[in-house]
Amino acid sequence: MIASAPGKIILFGEHSVVYGRHALVSAINLRCRVEAKKSKVFRVVSPLGITGLDFKVHPYVSFAIKRFSELKRIDGAELIIKSEIPIASGLGSSAAVTVATLKALSGEFDFMLTDEEIFELAKKVELDVQGRASGIDPFISTFGGSWIFPERKKVEILFDFFVLKLWERSTKMMVEKVAKLREKHPEILERIFDAIDAIALKAPGCDSEDFEELIHINQSLLRAIGVSSPEIDELISKLEKDGFKVKLTGAGGGGCIFGIYRDRKPGGSFVVKPEMEGVRIEDS
Ligand code: PMV
Repeated sequence: MIASAPGKIILFGEHSVVYGRHALVSAINLRCRVEAKKSKVFRVVSPLGITGLDFKVHPYVSFAIKRFSELKRIDGAELIIKSEIPIASGLGSSAAVTVATLKALSGEFDFMLTDEEIFELAKKVELDVQGRASGIDPFISTFGGSWIFPERKKVEILFDFFVLKLWERSTKMMVEKVAKLREKHPEILERIFDAIDAIALKAPGCDSEDFEELIHINQSLLRAIGVSSPEIDELISKLEKDGFKVKLTGAGGGGCIFGIYRDRKPGGSFVVKPEMEGVRIEDS
């Protein structure tokens, strides 16, 4: 049984969402596909390697299998993973592989889980691996579409985006960096978070010109809270000189930057579209 689930892009609100503010997040048309086959042993095959149940090399898939077998006992399975979503770049590859694994297992072992159940299990897997998580990624990967969090208000995003991958980085380290700055200057950071909150709420109603202005403002605020870097700032000013408006997406410090795609995109970037469909079974 083959299942697939989409990645995501945080358009506005990363970091401030950790402190109770709003974020605007969209599923994207890059998917992770997982094939599950009945087997006598556990075997996971992905670009990261070929392993058994291995909580270091394949933590999300291994915990997904563990959580699934708490509901339906299985003695073995082969999982073959192919993903279009870059790893460790803030585009939701971990949640997509988790959600697709759960859906493929539920189909292969005739233990159909509802999307709501898949989401709840995927959230547990995220906590198993990361210890702390907002649950946004498993939600988007399961249900698709564009949403304002934490309310889960569905919105429509009519633009396509170009995405430029920089380098891999750790979300945890960037979240800690912001936490330290906030400890030192709480009265200032809280006001920056409020400004980002206003951006996330305003964005869904904007035309492309205003949306790009919000991209520019949000990037300046991300820089202010210390999640950009001289290299990223330099790259962004170069792109701005070429007429692009771009911001980081996700934790920052690397990962990806994006802007609205209008016929032209920076060299090395790729185009993503908002994706309406969440997890699904694929024809084999
Ligand atoms: O880069 P990602 O996809 O790991 O996104 C992190 C988003 C943060 O707001 C920085 C953290 C969070 O848990 O919301």
